[in-house]
Amino acid sequence: MCGIVGAIAERNVVEILLEGLRRLEYRGYDSAGVALLDSQGNLTRTRRIGKVKELAQALKEQPVKGATGIAHTRWATHGGVTEANAHPHLSSERIAVVHNGIIENYQTLRQELTQAGYGFSSDTDTETIAHQVHLELDKCGDLLKAVQNAVTKFHGAYGTVIMDKQEPERIIVARSGSPLVIGLGIGENFIASDQMALLPVTRRFMFLEEGDVAEISRTSIQVYDQSGAVVEREVIESDVEHDAGDKGGYRHYMLKEIHEQPSVIRNTLQGRLSDTGISPNIFGQGADKIFAGIQHVQIIACGTSYHSGMTARYWLEQYANVSCNVEIASEFRYRKSFVHPNSLIVTISQSGETADTLAALRLAKQQGYSASLAICNVPGSSLVRESDLAFMTLAGAEIGVASTKAFTTQLTGFLMLTLAIGQHNNMLQTDHDDIVKALHSLPAKLEETLTLTAGIKELAKEFADKQHSLFLGRGDQYPIAMEGALKLKEISYIHAEAYASGELKHGPLALIDDEMPVIVVAPNNELLEKLKSNVEEVRARGGIMYVFADKQANFKSDDTMRVINVPHCEAAIAPIVYTLPLQLLSYYVAVIKGTDVDQPRNLAKSVTVE
Ligand code: G6P
Repeated sequence: MCGIVGAIAERNVVEILLEGLRRLEYRGYDSAGVALLDSQGNLTRTRRIGKVKELAQALKEQPVKGATGIAHTRWATHGGVTEANAHPHLSSERIAVVHNGIIENYQTLRQELTQAGYGFSSDTDTETIAHQVHLELDKCGDLLKAVQNAVTKFHGAYGTVIMDKQEPERIIVARSGSPLVIGLGIGENFIASDQMALLPVTRRFMFLEEGDVAEISRTSIQVYDQSGAVVEREVIESDVEHDAGDKGGYRHYMLKEIHEQPSVIRNTLQGRLSDTGISPNIFGQGADKIFAGIQHVQIIACGTSYHSGMTARYWLEQYANVSCNVEIASEFRYRKSFVHPNSLIVTISQSGETADTLAALRLAKQQGYSASLAICNVPGSSLVRESDLAFMTLAGAEIGVASTKAFTTQLTGFLMLTLAIGQHNNMLQTDHDDIVKALHSLPAKLEETLTLTAGIKELAKEFADKQHSLFLGRGDQYPIAMEGALKLKEISYIHAEAYASGELKHGPLALIDDEMPVIVVAPNNELLEKLKSNVEEVRARGGIMYVFADKQANFKSDDTMRVINVPHCEAAIAPIVYTLPLQLLSYYVAVIKGTDVDQPRNLAKSVTVE
C-alpha cells in the first residue's frame, strides 16, 4: 500500500528519496512521485504512473535537485491510476503534500475549499489536505500551526508530510491511523512510513504516536501531541538488517523468504524455548499472571494472519484446554460480539499496522477484555505499542506481498502460547513434552521439507492451464488448506477454494471433473482414514488429486493421483511443515504463469486503510 519518504538535508536528496521508494515497492502501488525544494525556494514535482523505475528515468531525463523533498508510492483508493492523482499534491504551487490513509470527509472538505476558491486538479482525498493546510496558513501565517489546525478537520486516517515552498528549512508531519517514523541523521533528518525505506541513511528512529504532529528541520525534531503539548518520543536503534531488502541470489523475494523459514523459526525459538519448555514471560512482563486468570481466548486478524489464528484455535482447545474463537478483524470491528469472562484478546499481524486489526484491538480494549496480546513481526508497530503483551516473531523483513515466513513464525509463536496458557489449564504433561520436542525438531524438519522443491516444480506444470482448484484438509490442516488456497490465488490468479474435507458432499463435489485439480493435505493423524474416504469420493468422480502426505499414510501415485511424500513429523508441528510444500507449489505455478510474484496485481503488503 502507499509509501512515504521525506528528507531534509544539506545535500541533494533525490537519490535518498528514490532509494527509499524502491525499498517500499514491495508494499504494492501503482504510481510514484516526488516533490523537491531547493534553497532558492524553487518547488518541482515529478510523477509517473507505474513503477519507481519510470519515475527514476523521468528524473534522469529531466534532472531536478533539492535538499528538502517528499516522495510517495500511491496505491489507488480515491480516483483512478493517473498521473494527476499521483502524489505529491500541491496547493497553488506552494504547499506540497504526500499522504497515506483516507480522509473520509474529503467530499465535504472539497466543497468547502472549492467555495473558498481552491481549484482541484485530482480526484483524490489527499488534495484536500494540501488546500486545507494552505487555507489555515493564510489565516495564521505559521505552517506548524496551520497543520495542527488543519488536522482537526480531518476524519479518517492519515500519515502525511507537508512542505511549504516559502520555508525550505522545515517539514511538518502528522500521524493519525497511518504510521510514520522519523529517521535521525547527523545534520539531516528523514521521514518514512516504514523504517525499511531509511535503512541506507540511518538506523536511529523515532516512531510517532497517534495524533502527533512534528516539525522537522535538518538539526531538530520537535514533536507535539494531539493537545499541542511538546512531547518526547523515544529514539530507538533499529536492528533490522540493512540488506533485508536484497534477494540474496533468489529469483524472487518470496522464494528467498520460503527458504529462510528454517532459520527464522530457529531465531524465533532461540532463547525462548529450553529443553523443558518456555517461560510465559517471553510474551511480556506479567504474562504469567495474566495467563493464569484466562478462561477464553479471542483471536483477531486478517488474511494469512487469520489462518494462523484458525490453526491456533485447534491447538489452544486441544492442548491448552482453553476455549477459543477466531474472527476476521473487519467483521469483529463492526458487530456487537459477546465478551466471555476473563478473555484474552490476541491480535496477529505481520505488519502491526493493518487498519482493521488495529481498529478491532481498539474496540476490544473498550469492551472489557482482561488483557491484549499482539503476535507481530514489526517491533514498535502500532499493534505492539497498543497491546499489553507482545510476542515478536523474528521473521526479519518480509518483502513478498504473499506472506510466507511471517505465517510460519506466527504459528511457532502460537505453539509457545499454547504451552504458556496450558500450564495453567491442566495441560497433559505428555502433550506439553511432545510440543516442546516437536518445536525443537521444527527447523531441521523444515530444511528436510524444502528438499521437495524439485518434485513440486514438476507438479506445478500441471496447473499452468487450470482456472480453478480445490484444497482439502481436516482438523488443524483445514486452515493450512485455506492458506494454500490463498497463496495460489494471490500469486497465480488461479481461483482456489479450500474446504474442510468433511464438507465435500455438501456442495463442492458438484465441481469435480478432470479440469479441477484437488490438492489434499494428508499428514498421518487420527483423521487420516476419514480423509482417505474423501479422496475416494473425489476419485470416483474423475477428479485429479495432488496429495501431500506422510509416507506412512500409504498413498500411491497413479493415473488420478500424484503423491508428494512430506517428511514424517510430530503431530503438533504438522500444520507448519505442510505449509511449505503448498507455498512452493503456488510459487512455481506463478513463475510458470509469469505473474508478478512479489507484487501481485491489486494487492498490497500492508493494508493500512479499510
Ligand atoms: C495483506 C497482505 C497479506 C496479509 C494481510 C494481513 O492482505 O497481502 O499477506 O496476510 O494483509 O496483514 P498483517 O500485516 O496484519 O499480517
